[in-house]
Amino acid sequence: MLWYTSDALVRLSCGDGTSRGVVKLNHIYKQYAQGRTIVTALHDVCLEVGPGEFCALMGPSGCGKSTLLNVIGGLDHQTAGTVALDGRSTDDFSDADWTTLRRECIGLVFQAFHLLPGLSAAENVALPLLLSGHSGGRAGRLVAECLDAVGMRERERHRPGELSGGEHQRVAIARALVHRPKLLLADEPTGNLDSRQGAEVIALLRSLPRRFGATVIVATHSREAAQQADIVHGLRDGCLESGAGSATL
Ligand SMILES: Nc1ncnc2c1ncn2[C@@H]1O[C@H](COP(=O)(O)OP(=O)(O)OP(=O)(O)O)[C@@H](O)[C@H]1O
Ligand SMILES: [Mg+2]
Repeated sequence: MLWYTSDALVRLSCGDGTSRGVVKLNHIYKQYAQGRTIVTALHDVCLEVGPGEFCALMGPSGCGKSTLLNVIGGLDHQTAGTVALDGRSTDDFSDADWTTLRRECIGLVFQAFHLLPGLSAAENVALPLLLSGHSGGRAGRLVAECLDAVGMRERERHRPGELSGGEHQRVAIARALVHRPKLLLADEPTGNLDSRQGAEVIALLRSLPRRFGATVIVATHSREAAQQADIVHGLRDGCLESGAGSATL
């Protein structure tokens, strides 16, 4: 499977595309300098996530979950180690290459929904398409499909101030899906939701590999979320503990 569509990214990437991993991390370290102290947020993390997997990252606050997602999505960069996506090294990626890759292939969902308050639900979902120069009938169809997929078509004209917390997150998920990413990274997507809304959002995320062929990685504190996962990776003090099937939780 090759999911980079941009010529520039194909040219820049140097892997052979044969790895099974949609995401493959090799010996990732991430350190932050804090005055004279060095904070090690990730320590020798090796991880492979296969196509169509729903993978949960769990661990206590400060263990490195967000840092790991940020490194996978190129929002932050590792101090050492390599990140390969779809079997291709990202070592030589510039910030512009990462931006293009996220725009084409990666969807991001955050705890705080980051919807623009002045835009309707449909306009918020359409925004990534507009930013990459897509508009018109096809864009409209993609927006409608994604709003349908998250059960928000009837609220498409509502502004964020007119939506519940769970509805906010469903619109944010539709926005993350609208460009049909192969990889969706969700950081505490249920953190601002009550348990019922959280369960609905997790069920929605869980359905994405089947419905959209997306690989999903979720950082979460929620045991219920982890129970839905194909595989759960524990993080502790920046170190990855061996993955477990959700059945073993
Ligand atoms: N920009 C930064 N500068 C310095 N230290 C940082 C920075 N970002 C994160 N850290 C530190 O790195 C470690 C991992 O942080 P991270 O945000 O990845 O944790 P987390 O597992 O996502 O926690 P939470 O569950 O609270 O969201 C923490 O000790 C944090 O203080
Ligand atoms: Mg975090």
